[in-house]
Amino acid sequence: MAMTTIRDARADDAPAIARVHVATWRTTYPGLIPDSILVGMSVERHEAMWQRSIANPSGDAVVVAEHPADGVVGFASCGPLRGLALPFAGEVYTLYVAQDHQGRGLGRRLLARSFGILLERGYPSAIVWVLATNPSRFFYRALGGEHAADRTEALWGVLMDETAFGWRDLRLALSSDRFAVAPPADDF
Ligand SMILES: CC(C)(COP(=O)(O)OP(=O)(O)OC[C@H]1O[C@@H](n2cnc3c(N)ncnc32)[C@H](O)[C@@H]1OP(=O)(O)O)[C@@H](O)C(=O)NCCC(=O)NCCS
Repeated sequence: MAMTTIRDARADDAPAIARVHVATWRTTYPGLIPDSILVGMSVERHEAMWQRSIANPSGDAVVVAEHPADGVVGFASCGPLRGLALPFAGEVYTLYVAQDHQGRGLGRRLLARSFGILLERGYPSAIVWVLATNPSRFFYRALGGEHAADRTEALWGVLMDETAFGWRDLRLALSSDRFAVAPPADDF
């Protein structure tokens, strides 16, 4: 049976990552962030952004989920902690799975790969910021993330509440049952 694979992003993945990025925002965020922002999102602008990000070897690490028929259907990026000083070393900056491919374990596998990369790069702990109202907070909780911080950010001209989930020990997290899922449940 064909299987979705998780691998490091290549420069030529930028268009597909940008498409998944914009499409997933538009399926996830209506009602959470202003419609005008979602309507105004540009695949081209995001493509350029991802291209730069992947091309920079000392920059963010980017990984993708590649489906044998549908191509790139998910991605994640990570690197050192940004912004607010918190007792965590690393951060997962983005994690998105296309709507049609959600709920099949790809988010878990992308997060696991990101944690692996952070460990390799010398970051033993990590956080991820989510909009406080985003249902993905249940995903992070299911994977052992603990409430780490809250902040209110002026985003897109609107005050948005965000919550950070944290893992103090990525090695321990990866060895827990929550991440031990074999074989991958995303075959179809
Ligand atoms: C959040 C997201 C990355 C999760 O990826 P996914 O592939 O759908 O999730 P998985 O199938 O790997 O789920 C892993 C576990 O989390 C649980 N989970 C996932 N989403 C959940 C939700 N909304 N509520 C409760 N539990 C959830 C699953 O039940 C699963 O646990 P189980 O195996 O014990 O059943 C994905 O749904 C997504 O991209 N959503 C839209 C964009 C978004 O909000 N991204 C995060 C921005 S910070």
